[in-house]
Amino acid sequence: MRTTRKLIALLILSAGVMTALLISTRLTGAQQGTPAVYNPYPPGILPANLSAEIARVEREIQGIFNNYLAQWRALPPPTLAGNPPTLQGTGYESVRILGGLLNYDLNMSVDRNTACSSCHMPYAGFSGPIPSVNLGPIAYPGSFHFRFGKRNPQRYPYAPRFPVLNYNTTQGAFFGGNFWDARATGYKLQSPDANQAQGPPLDTQEMGSPDLACIAFKISQAVYLPLYVTVWGDDPSSIVFPADTASICATPGGAAVFGSNPSPIALSAEDRTKANNVYDHWAQSISFLESSDDTSPFTSKFDAFLAGKYTLTSAEMAGYKLFRGKANCNSCHLDGRSTAPTPPPPQGTDPTGEDTGAAADTAPLFTCFGYANLGLPKNPRDAFYYQTTPDSFGFTPNPAGFTYTDFGLGTFLRSGFGSAPNPNSAWIQFAATSDGQMQTSTARDVALVPPQCPTTEAPGPYFQKEFFHNGYIKSLKQLVHFYNTRDLYRMEVESGECPTGKVEKVNCWPAAEVPQNQDMTVGNLGLTDTEENQIVVFLQTLTDGFTKPYPFIGTYTGACMSGGNAATQGNSSLIPATAARRLALATTNKP
Ligand code: HEC
Ligand code: HEC
Repeated sequence: MRTTRKLIALLILSAGVMTALLISTRLTGAQQGTPAVYNPYPPGILPANLSAEIARVEREIQGIFNNYLAQWRALPPPTLAGNPPTLQGTGYESVRILGGLLNYDLNMSVDRNTACSSCHMPYAGFSGPIPSVNLGPIAYPGSFHFRFGKRNPQRYPYAPRFPVLNYNTTQGAFFGGNFWDARATGYKLQSPDANQAQGPPLDTQEMGSPDLACIAFKISQAVYLPLYVTVWGDDPSSIVFPADTASICATPGGAAVFGSNPSPIALSAEDRTKANNVYDHWAQSISFLESSDDTSPFTSKFDAFLAGKYTLTSAEMAGYKLFRGKANCNSCHLDGRSTAPTPPPPQGTDPTGEDTGAAADTAPLFTCFGYANLGLPKNPRDAFYYQTTPDSFGFTPNPAGFTYTDFGLGTFLRSGFGSAPNPNSAWIQFAATSDGQMQTSTARDVALVPPQCPTTEAPGPYFQKEFFHNGYIKSLKQLVHFYNTRDLYRMEVESGECPTGKVEKVNCWPAAEVPQNQDMTVGNLGLTDTEENQIVVFLQTLTDGFTKPYPFIGTYTGACMSGGNAATQGNSSLIPATAARRLALATTNKP
């Protein structure tokens, strides 16, 4: 008992010393001393349990990191053989495990408290792991607390299967790319997913490093450096880092002290090239993890059904028929089956639209890799809208406040605020017709939840997720109901302001944030309540882990929720847009 106490005291002391060290070596921006927590939010935006939940996820991440460490230590090293040389034997395992170590390493962020997985945990289908955040701020807190991004952390199983972004001139449409707005095109690495992994480390509201060389610097100090060197050959520890590297890498990106300099670490040209190469290898290792069975294993009920190893129940089969028939879902979320005969009205003339063809592809991805504007309302719960004042480093995440409109792909094509530079000027002409469009994400693993909270749907016990790019939808029932009745119950009001007698998301859908370019193949599908439920049941067959347990599925240590019903799930957290706008304006006008 006494030793435990002593140990705890020692731990607290050393944690204190560490923090003091970190702070004293950090370059401060506008102010000297400890950087203040950034909290420009009106009451009710940040969940009361936010700090406790962040700490919980950090613990869970550390556990998974340790597991990858143990996997590496147990792995016989690969042998370099052949010409060009191949890591014979355990090459696959080596890259996968390296990807795991990088993906779950909290040190990779500016405050050494945020890994990729902080916003993408396995038990949430690699989407957001914090129920109260999924209900509330939508976006996730970055490494420097509490800067927030703007969108729902996208699930990423199967994301590596998206091709390099391309414009199909015949179809007049974009295909491929990663991120909701396609800004990870993949044009240089030839993988949108690897390109994607180079975003978060430098994102001011995510992992927050000010210079990509911080990744090479941190890998050079990591215990798993030898594994990195085995896989890639280049050695990050051969880079001569200047003495102020640690303090630069502990200062959040966007800090006024850096001005507009994207590479504040002074490296020789040769070392800069080395750091850039490490950054490519970082991305490629992580992308391999995401395409491996640790993330994208094709082990769902539906995969078993395609392989003739599982018979869909009558509700699952009814949902499947609707998915690729009356509800028209598989015109965008491709199921890999043959598409004959003709679909039912309004697209075709066949009354049932039933597909009797065999599987055309045994690993369908449930996406067409395309983009569409589904016409979702603006979500005033998004923490992004309230970040209108500078933090202690002189950085203002969203000067536009509530007037910010998310034009998705259109903004990217224009190289606009909140996206990334467009590497192909030939595409700028398509910006107007792409406004509001977002990536057709795979429907796979949308229903994946921790085993102790076995569903996404109230009354549960359930794990609260958020759906679509702005997290406006809180259950799969609502998701299907939106596709089914968007145009039937559309009202020219904003979220939180449906008229008396109407219930938001039940018989009132607020106006679209981006009304132009809305996809009209959905919105009034004529599905009954039972049919909606059957589609939800079908979506649940796309959850990996049926034929083989999903890796790390059991790592959730938080609570489940229960009560209420799926149709109005999360409605108590709605806030009126007018009030949100007023509050955001009030903060904007603060001196
Ligand atoms: C602070 C939260 C946060 C962190 C940390 C974070 N992400 Fe994300 N991730 C998001 C959000 C939000 C999106 C959607 C962003 C957008 O489209 O603008 C996203 C999107 C993605 C996607 C796109 C999936 C697709 O289908 O296009 C992948 C892949 C991904 N993240 C992987 C990663 C990796 C790898 C890391 C670490 C290098 C990481 N994320 C770190 C929040 C985060
Ligand atoms: C016109 C193409 C299109 C059709 C048809 C379509 N979807 Fe989607 N789907 C999308 C797009 C685009 C998104 C992402 C939209 C966003 O977030 O703004 C999406 C997202 C999803 C998601 C993932 C949500 C998340 O948060 O990860 C699911 C599940 C889904 N759709 C199911 C369905 C179902 C069920 C149907 C049929 C009722 C359907 N879709 C019909 C284009 C389509």
